[in-house]
Amino acid sequence: MKIAFLASEAIPYVKTGGLGDVVGSLPVYLARLGLEVSLFLPFYLEVQEKKLPLTRAGEIIASWQGKEMVCPLWEYKTPEIRVFFIQNNAYYARTGIYGTSSGDHPDNGERFAFYSLFSLHALKTIGFKPDIIHAHDWQSAISLAYLRYLFKDDPFFDSIKSLFTIHNLAYQGIFPPEIIERIGLPSRVFNFREMEFYGRVNFLKAGLIYSDAISTVSPTYSREIQLPEYGFGLDGVLRERSQILFGILNGIDNSNWNPENDPLLPYHFSRSDLSGKKKCKAELIRLFNFPADSLDQPLAGMVSRLADQKGLDLLAASLENLFFLGLRVVILGQGDQKYQDLLLQLQKEKQKFLGVKIAFDEVLAHLIIAGSDLFLIPSRFEPCGLTQMYSLRYGTIPIVRAVGGLEDTIEEFDPVNLRGNGFKFKEYSAEALIKAVRRALDFYYQPHFWSSLIQNAMVADFSWERSAREYAQLYQLIKSFNH
Ligand code: ADP
Ligand code: GLC
Repeated sequence: MKIAFLASEAIPYVKTGGLGDVVGSLPVYLARLGLEVSLFLPFYLEVQEKKLPLTRAGEIIASWQGKEMVCPLWEYKTPEIRVFFIQNNAYYARTGIYGTSSGDHPDNGERFAFYSLFSLHALKTIGFKPDIIHAHDWQSAISLAYLRYLFKDDPFFDSIKSLFTIHNLAYQGIFPPEIIERIGLPSRVFNFREMEFYGRVNFLKAGLIYSDAISTVSPTYSREIQLPEYGFGLDGVLRERSQILFGILNGIDNSNWNPENDPLLPYHFSRSDLSGKKKCKAELIRLFNFPADSLDQPLAGMVSRLADQKGLDLLAASLENLFFLGLRVVILGQGDQKYQDLLLQLQKEKQKFLGVKIAFDEVLAHLIIAGSDLFLIPSRFEPCGLTQMYSLRYGTIPIVRAVGGLEDTIEEFDPVNLRGNGFKFKEYSAEALIKAVRRALDFYYQPHFWSSLIQNAMVADFSWERSAREYAQLYQLIKSFNH
């Protein structure tokens, strides 16, 4: 079975969030099951600067905005998969893959349409005819519109099926109607049954309409997005296609996230010897200049994009109470200016209790996940969420809002039978978050309960093997569909 992966980010090449983790690791696990995967990415500046040993796989020659374009196609061979980079310096050789702190790049519609179209051309350039095109999120959703309208009479693309995965319905790629012509799609796609969305063009909708099947990254989120509350205006379309909508929980890459040998950590630890975890905590306390007696106080961490989705308003409204309960909090994040400013302001006022770092910092992310006692994820919605699974593996107990993948991965601790791996709250309110933290702290101060929790957390297995098998089965099912 041959799969073409189309997505805008993938580790270890480029990452802004969980999409990068998933697209970088899932193909490797699929390859181990015997599938043949080729991954296509834009040749971003960030990737060029990595100076990878690339080979020239060919040139994509195709028309774009009335001109013939000649685009170098670069290949990076890994033991498991083939990775291809599509070069177009005018679109990709700039700072920021989606935008900068002043906002999104104004030509993102054209940038990702180009990437989607030229990924399809690239398949032909390298002679890789996949059974399934697996596109992810709005940036590559539009490839399925091209497949439907531009390649339908091309025998090379004949019988290729498609899967579209929603990692986040909040980002849809919405552009003015004029874009249709600029990206070379026929004007007839602009109707409400296809890509029109309240008078504008919606790229993600193309993924929902033209794919053979749709998946999302947790079973709970697959149900939530069919409701107006979480559907971002597309719940109706998703309800109509619910027969072919699947929820497959993301996995985590246990080799990148292993407390026993994580190269990004100064100290290592395991279920049977947690002394390294305490040393990581001491290191965090030192880094954030907390008072020395903080080592015996509970410490909560958060590593997150700073976006409305992540519940930062809830957190901000709760912090005073959390500090009163004796909690120290460290936050690593980057994103919306309003949250960056808010967090830095709060930190100025409460330096003994709150540590904030505004950055994208892989090393600090691992240290916070390893060295904290608790991990906070008060999301408004969360398609899957990976940091709760990373935290579990490092014996850091998640406190989460019970939505999406957080609901599917975290089970409230039950002191009677010592089951459960974290703490959950349902209502989107500061009171509910504070109550959940209180419950956690009650157990934190009773070491026999706390060690059970840590053991439960660290034995949980969320590795990719199971999810990769589910994807492989779904590909088989899609392949059997008659058009
Ligand atoms: P989302 O994809 O919505 O951002 P996930 O929990 O799925 O949420 O994935 C977030 C990923 O990005 C995790 O690997 C997390 O460690 C990482 N991450 C988020 N913010 C930062 C940051 N500021 N620095 C380093 N890593 C970060
Ligand atoms: C999205 C979601 C996150 C999910 C990630 C990977 O960015 O916000 O919940 O874990 O994609 O699927």
